[in-house]
Amino acid sequence: MPKRLQTRLTELLDIEHPVLLAPMDRIAGGALAAAVTSAGGLGLIGGGYGDADWLEAQFGAAGNQAVGVGFITWSLAQRPELLDQVIAHSPAAVMFSFGDAEDMVCKTRDAGVRTIWQVQRLEQARQALGAGTDIIVVQGQEAGGHGMDRGLMSLLPAVRDLAGDDQAIVAAGGLADGRGLAAALMLGGDGVLMGTRFWASAEADGAEADKAELAKAEGDRTVRTKVFDLARGLDWPWHYTGRVVHNAFSEKWHGDIEGLKGDLAAQQAAYAGSAPDDFETRVVIGGEAVDLIDSVKPAAEIVQETVAQAAALLSGAGARLATE
Ligand SMILES: Cc1cc2nc3c(=O)[nH]c(=O)nc-3n(C[C@H](O)[C@H](O)[C@H](O)COP(=O)(O)O)c2cc1C
Repeated sequence: MPKRLQTRLTELLDIEHPVLLAPMDRIAGGALAAAVTSAGGLGLIGGGYGDADWLEAQFGAAGNQAVGVGFITWSLAQRPELLDQVIAHSPAAVMFSFGDAEDMVCKTRDAGVRTIWQVQRLEQARQALGAGTDIIVVQGQEAGGHGMDRGLMSLLPAVRDLAGDDQAIVAAGGLADGRGLAAALMLGGDGVLMGTRFWASAEADGAEADKAELAKAEGDRTVRTKVFDLARGLDWPWHYTGRVVHNAFSEKWHGDIEGLKGDLAAQQAAYAGSAPDDFETRVVIGGEAVDLIDSVKPAAEIVQETVAQAAALLSGAGARLATE
């Protein structure tokens, strides 16, 4: 039974397994990124909205493992010096999501660092290709956290058709095990980037109670919404929504965004004042893949199980071919 999958992604990044850790804001810290790299994938620290001291501490926590960093592009545009700070660490790659990253890709590439651009639509993939990014992550609407409206199933092969054979392409959104990895490879991807699955890992930063909520949640109970960006005072471009586990707060406001805007100061105060374990108010960010997660596991186990299951499925696929 083969134990490794060799793809454009493993070749380009010189990694053993085609599995990337999504750069989840504050959740993908240095310890989790290092654990994924050490297991043979590539860990990306979640640079999120940008905090110089936190980023520095995460490189320290990653130790001597090769890790990358992901930024929220529109937020990085307001604090461009953070990109210089990260490039100075010679990261394995820098990933940009949510906005026009062309100048950032050029700057990062000129510094000799691999670039990753996460896209949600075909038109964004055209932009990423035009900028010459090394890797495109195609994110489907199933994904946890921010994203847009296209499903992965048709968007991924469409981006492959657009990009041609030489481009490294990674699938994201709703993928949490070897079935997702095998399917991603069949749809034209060269690997997967997983967020929700690694959020429910031992090394993820964040409360254990939040991880337990993820393990309990069902995909039916996730929703793409603007509610928690408004409640947390985050100034996201309006076309991006965030997939979260639905709770009483989102149920109340999801269908009444104008009402929430009309009472914003009071609702923001109520949200900020809610207890950390008040899961009917506070957001737990997670995608449809929560259906596939029933326990918190070490990151290395997640990588190994994902790859082994995908390899087994791909090895056995020929048995479905009828000979007559
Ligand atoms: C808790 C959480 C936080 C996230 N934060 C970020 C982020 O800061 N930057 C980013 O580019 N993507 C972020 N994402 C989205 C991921 O990059 C990725 O597209 C997504 O996790 C893939 O779908 P999945 O969650 O089904 O694996 C986040 C996802 C989750 C679940």
